[in-house]
Amino acid sequence: MKLNAQRRKRPFSNAQAPTSRRGFSSLHARSKSIRISSADGSRSALEFRSVTQSVDEAIVISDAHGKIIFWNGGAKIIFGYAEKEIIGKPLALLIPTQSSAGRGAKLEQLLFSKASPIDSKTHELRGIHKDGHRFPVELSLLSWAFGAKAFFTTIIRDITERKRLQREIMEISGREQKRIGQELHDDLCQQLTAITLLSEVLEKKLGEKSLVEAKDAAEIHKLIVQSIIDTRLLAKGLLPVELGPDGLRSALAEMVSNTEKLTHIHCRAECKKPVLIRDSAVAVHLYRIGQEAVTNAVKHARAKEIVVKLSESRGQIVLSIIDDGVGIAEGAARRGRLGLSVMNSRAETINGTLRIRRGDKGGTVVTCSLHAPTPRAK
Ligand SMILES: Nc1ncnc2c1ncn2[C@@H]1O[C@H](COP(=O)(O)OP(=O)(O)OP(=O)(O)O)[C@@H](O)[C@H]1O
Ligand SMILES: [Mg+2]
Repeated sequence: MKLNAQRRKRPFSNAQAPTSRRGFSSLHARSKSIRISSADGSRSALEFRSVTQSVDEAIVISDAHGKIIFWNGGAKIIFGYAEKEIIGKPLALLIPTQSSAGRGAKLEQLLFSKASPIDSKTHELRGIHKDGHRFPVELSLLSWAFGAKAFFTTIIRDITERKRLQREIMEISGREQKRIGQELHDDLCQQLTAITLLSEVLEKKLGEKSLVEAKDAAEIHKLIVQSIIDTRLLAKGLLPVELGPDGLRSALAEMVSNTEKLTHIHCRAECKKPVLIRDSAVAVHLYRIGQEAVTNAVKHARAKEIVVKLSESRGQIVLSIIDDGVGIAEGAARRGRLGLSVMNSRAETINGTLRIRRGDKGGTVVTCSLHAPTPRAK
């Protein structure tokens, strides 16, 4: 994608911009403190204008009908329209009111929901540039009234670069997993196999001399054999998976059973009916999301039981990973670790929705849902 020359020159690119909601809230706070009085040139209006020109984000104010009445420099850079071209045009020109893939929040719903006037959440949607290309944006909304009139301040950040980095991280982590899986399988497993042969010989020799140490050698031999089994299971989990149309069900069941063997945590797969996913790339992303969620439950949850469910109903595929552990902490997703962020990128890549929440009775519930994909055209 072409990078706007002006944007390249900016001291802080959007990729570097803080991704926390704090950035949005402080901008909203500033915009709230200075009510614009229909561009009357008052001091507060001028102050507002100068403050908003210094930020990277697009700040767009629209009236109750969704018509744009204010446009800052960030908006011009992000969307390509000059102020005089866009004032009076509908906000829907920038952010389509209907989400194309039928997923994500709709701008209309966000704007006119009866919820709290201050929407503290950020929403990921698609924006449309003046030249027609679509790009991912993160958006935050504030509705406010001036006299009897309602207005909406929309703060929009271009997250193209962040998404690209997420995809890159996902690919790098996939490549690293593959490399470690191969090393474990081809190197460590071979060495361990050689050691089992030696320990077997040692056990035999000690036995022939009727030495009691033969028992110890037998124990060592048994432990090494178990280590080979564990290492193979580990390597298998790291190597890329090949999945046929209904292969996800069996791959998840196998992953769950291997996890139980390795960790001794009770693990169960519930995938009763076939779930046909003809695009194997989608199945592999779902498998990896499930795998990371199960690994997280093992590492962080102190769970006694992990359940993996896969179902399809009316064209909606749902994968859930439920544990009965300590429950994910508030803000865990913002700790800057890789796992959750890669899971999110995978869900996005397959046009899915990922939700991670604490279970009603404790523990953590990870859900990835998506419309059953149609096979890719060859
Ligand atoms: N099932 C869970 N139960 C409790 N806490 C969880 C669970 N899953 C995730 N967490 C918390 O969320 C944090 C972020 O998870 P994430 O997978 O991103 O990172 P990680 O597992 O610590 O490291 P990695 O990048 O290797 O995956 C974890 O460090 C943990 O505190
Ligand atoms: Mg993790």
